[in-house]
Amino acid sequence: EKGGYDHFMLKEIYEQPRAILDTYRGRLLADKGLIKMAGVDENIEKFLNANRIIIVACGTSWHAGLVAEYIFEDLARIPVEVEYASEFRYRNPVITDKDVLIAISQSGETADTLAAIKLAKEKGAFVFGVCNVVGSSISRETDAGAYTHAGPEIGVASTKAFTTQITVLTLIALKLAKEKGVFSQSKYHEFLTELENIPSKVEKVLLSNALVEQVAAVYKDATNCLYLGRGYNFPVALEGALKLKEISYIHAEGYPAAEMKHGPIALIDEHMPVFVIATKKGHYEKVVSNIQEIKSRKGKIIAIVTEGDEMVRDLADHVIEVPETFESLTPLLTTIPLQLLSYHIALMRGCNVDQPRNLAKSVTVE
Ligand code: M6R
Repeated sequence: EKGGYDHFMLKEIYEQPRAILDTYRGRLLADKGLIKMAGVDENIEKFLNANRIIIVACGTSWHAGLVAEYIFEDLARIPVEVEYASEFRYRNPVITDKDVLIAISQSGETADTLAAIKLAKEKGAFVFGVCNVVGSSISRETDAGAYTHAGPEIGVASTKAFTTQITVLTLIALKLAKEKGVFSQSKYHEFLTELENIPSKVEKVLLSNALVEQVAAVYKDATNCLYLGRGYNFPVALEGALKLKEISYIHAEGYPAAEMKHGPIALIDEHMPVFVIATKKGHYEKVVSNIQEIKSRKGKIIAIVTEGDEMVRDLADHVIEVPETFESLTPLLTTIPLQLLSYHIALMRGCNVDQPRNLAKSVTVE
């Protein structure tokens, strides 16, 4: 059942090239310059006339929502708000019939997300679901939706659900960018083609597994870790920290790199491993100067960089390379080493990787 892997989590990490492909298969028709998604096509006016998109979710799905905020605003120029479902539902939110609410949930059963959907529907918003489990409560409760075709995710730590959620949301954003005329045909075409390259680039990142395992061995006894990223990779930093917390029980925090000097920098000393996403294009120079700040305080730097990077290599204690891609697609690559890292650290610490203490795969109570 684990397909030769020791744990579901590892199997699911390795399934990502395939899962991403399955998610865009039949939807992304690069040669025709087309994205076909029935749930969006049938409701295109709702999306195009929306005042804003509100994204609600919990946990890792909320992180996918944050990545989507960058994608929708940057590519399709639609204002987006991302909310924890549990906060949104109880704070008497302002919702109108000009709002589109996107609920993201792997299981489709998360109680708070389901309640947020019901509230938004009562207020007249159009509600769209991004779920993995077919026929789940959220997929039935929403007005329309798009499934991530990730296949069953058994490990409590969400992995392939995250990257396929980002894939679906990217497809929607690209479609809207095209419909709105924000994207030229050629730019649109470039994106579709690059999206098709992602599964093989993810394969390439997976080849760094042995290197990531070596890094894990160095930091497995850490008591605190910091994860930093900017722009599209700020949510990836949050996701990296969550993965480590939930399966290895090491305290970890994700931060936008520039926020470091507003507090967390006080934590940095020679015992603090800092994982920094420092890919080219995404505010690269600014991240490099953040890395210098960490270094001058003797923090240990583990950087995720673009292939061929030299500047960060000179500064960091360890670098893990990912292939070059469009900035907006980097989260699909930079997430992978952070998943592998938490997997190896948890394993080395003797933790139950697939079923961490105190956690359930789907949270059906609030
Ligand atoms: O099924 P959902 O996507 O609605 O679940 C949301 C969270 O409970 C889930 O992502 C949780 O944070 C994971 N354990 C993270 O790995």
